[in-house]
Amino acid sequence: MENKERYTVTAALIYANGPIHIGHLAGCYLPADIYVRFLRKLGKDVVFVSGTDEHGVPITLKAKKEGISPQEVVDKYYTIIKKSFYDFGINFDVYSRTTKPIHHKTAQEFFLTLYNKGVFEEKVTEQYYDPVAHQFLADRYITGTCPKCGYEQAYGDQCEKCGASLSPTELINPVSTLTGEKPVLKETKNWFLPLDKMQPEIEKFIDSRKGWKPNVYGQCKSWLNQGLQPRAMTRDLDWGVKVPLKDAEGKVMYVWFDAPIGYISATKEWAQQNNKNWEPYWKDENTHLIHFIGKDNIVFHCIIFPAMLMAHGDYILPENVPANEFLNLEGNKISTSRNWAVWLHEYLEEFPDKQDELRYVLTAIAPETKDSEFTWKDYQARVNNELVAILGNFINRVVVLTNKYFKGEIPVDAPGSEHNPFTAAQEVVQEKINFEYLPKIAQNILQYKFREALQDIMNIAREGNKYLTDCEPWKRFDKKNPESAVNDEVASELTFCLNIIVQIATIAEPVLPFTAEKIRNLLNIDENTVQIIETDKPEKYAFSTIIPITKNHTINKPQLIFEKITDEMVEQQIAKLHTANQDNQSEETYEPIKPEATFDDFMKMDIRIGKILEAEKHPNADKLLVLKVDIGSEQRTIVSGIAQYYKPEELVNKQVTVLVNLAPRKLRGIESQGMILMAEDSEGNLAMINPESDFQTGATVR
Ligand code: MF3
Ligand code: ZN
Repeated sequence: MENKERYTVTAALIYANGPIHIGHLAGCYLPADIYVRFLRKLGKDVVFVSGTDEHGVPITLKAKKEGISPQEVVDKYYTIIKKSFYDFGINFDVYSRTTKPIHHKTAQEFFLTLYNKGVFEEKVTEQYYDPVAHQFLADRYITGTCPKCGYEQAYGDQCEKCGASLSPTELINPVSTLTGEKPVLKETKNWFLPLDKMQPEIEKFIDSRKGWKPNVYGQCKSWLNQGLQPRAMTRDLDWGVKVPLKDAEGKVMYVWFDAPIGYISATKEWAQQNNKNWEPYWKDENTHLIHFIGKDNIVFHCIIFPAMLMAHGDYILPENVPANEFLNLEGNKISTSRNWAVWLHEYLEEFPDKQDELRYVLTAIAPETKDSEFTWKDYQARVNNELVAILGNFINRVVVLTNKYFKGEIPVDAPGSEHNPFTAAQEVVQEKINFEYLPKIAQNILQYKFREALQDIMNIAREGNKYLTDCEPWKRFDKKNPESAVNDEVASELTFCLNIIVQIATIAEPVLPFTAEKIRNLLNIDENTVQIIETDKPEKYAFSTIIPITKNHTINKPQLIFEKITDEMVEQQIAKLHTANQDNQSEETYEPIKPEATFDDFMKMDIRIGKILEAEKHPNADKLLVLKVDIGSEQRTIVSGIAQYYKPEELVNKQVTVLVNLAPRKLRGIESQGMILMAEDSEGNLAMINPESDFQTGATVR
């Protein structure tokens, strides 16, 4: 057996409860694919695994919403998701799913190992139970009033208004979202992973890792600083992997317990299909284990899953977890429920041959260090000004001229070969590639800096373009005297450019695999002609050959690699986004109407028009603003959880609606003497309720 460096690369198992959009691609799958394709170019032994996460409340909620079974939900979306990835060239070795028997078996064995080692703490706790639906209620199945900010539709695990993380029993007036019933507390036994006790080990693990992205490392540190808490690894639900214990009737694994084990199950599945041994990929200390994820998954991959692996004892721990931030779209957060998204399957219907254009743009704007934004205008600009005008133009000029002057057949030995040394200008370009661009691109890819790598890939194309323009072969070629010496020079120059193009195709392939294939077809080059090799020299990386194209090689007829995106296409896409978004409004989910209130109930509330006089950030809470509000008869201090939606300076002099006889409450140390009323849509977006035109401050509302 050869002794190749081994890598296990995972990409998040996305919930199979909807199709995928550009945010998923940019955040996780595209960077993972680029990384893996590059490792393969270097000849590493890589397994690239992913699949769908088919358990958990997100699946059962979707099933309820669509009126079908959870199994039907995951069957439907598994197929759609898998196809989108395949169509975009995301080159998984296996795309598995967590409802497969091999996964249930793997997860149950894993659970039992931990159980038999005495890792779990068994605890009987009181959990909310819906007496009408006869089931325990997962966090997301309970809503109630947030104890921190008074918001009435907080979930059992989190208040989406003030951001507080909650546990269901903290909610005031809890309600089951299944039946609208008031849930009752009922005792139940669950198995907890004692993260608190494992904290020192986990800290040691995180501190031993090098080169983690600051956003990832920072989030880990903040969890650790708050002190880890034991976390239940079982749930009283019926959809999931059954807990393999006698006294665990009606219990399944916590979805975040079974899902990451799905990476292992997927590796096993791949190994079975390919006659390999899966174990070194998860158990050999020399294997590099890398998890690609989006930022909402950081704690699970950096703390909880490693803790599970440590507790098990047989497994290696991740070397890096290069999580990305989020991608926004045309000025807004991408939202599935509002249909504010570019869906991959829809993109491909409209741009069937433009996978690489999207791969290119999403890499160029990848949210590597902070949230970033996709707009169709920017997409157009990058495709037209970069792919078409720089890369495409270079390739096209060289191919057209080679065909025109030499019928596509190279009449000279390639520059750089024994019989035709580089000219000074050629040497400068080739050396820049060998000693600057190639090593830098390689290092950047290996350090998950794909944006920077892409810029340098385009810089090589810029160098090529400049070289060709400086040579001006179109001014020098001598049509009348085919034998003239200048024509040999021109042939040399074009051959040099052709070889640069092959180098670009080689190094760009991880980002632009479809383009690389097109270029190779155009230049009549075999896929394995040029490899990237590791060397002992200081620059560390080199092309296996820099002159794949030389005398007597024939290239094919010109063909455009990229086309311009027209204004019309852009306008259509933007219009589509807005229409889809509107159509979807009618499918919004609405809160159930509350129980009847009498007129007297209503009249108890004293609501008035107020005017905001001052607004500033709460000194102790990011989500809160402290407002001074004129309610006509007096001025009030009101603390409001709207800091995420409004800047203090935007609020001054605004009229708002205020509930003025709400009992005062202290919010993070400041007493709030009333509540600003807000409208809220099903996405949690807020809007103020103001009089339609400037109105008397202090006027009553009823
Ligand atoms: N299903 C989760 C999500 O879509 C990701 C799970 S990743 C895994 O956010 F590690 F658990 F598999
Ligand atoms: Zn709250």
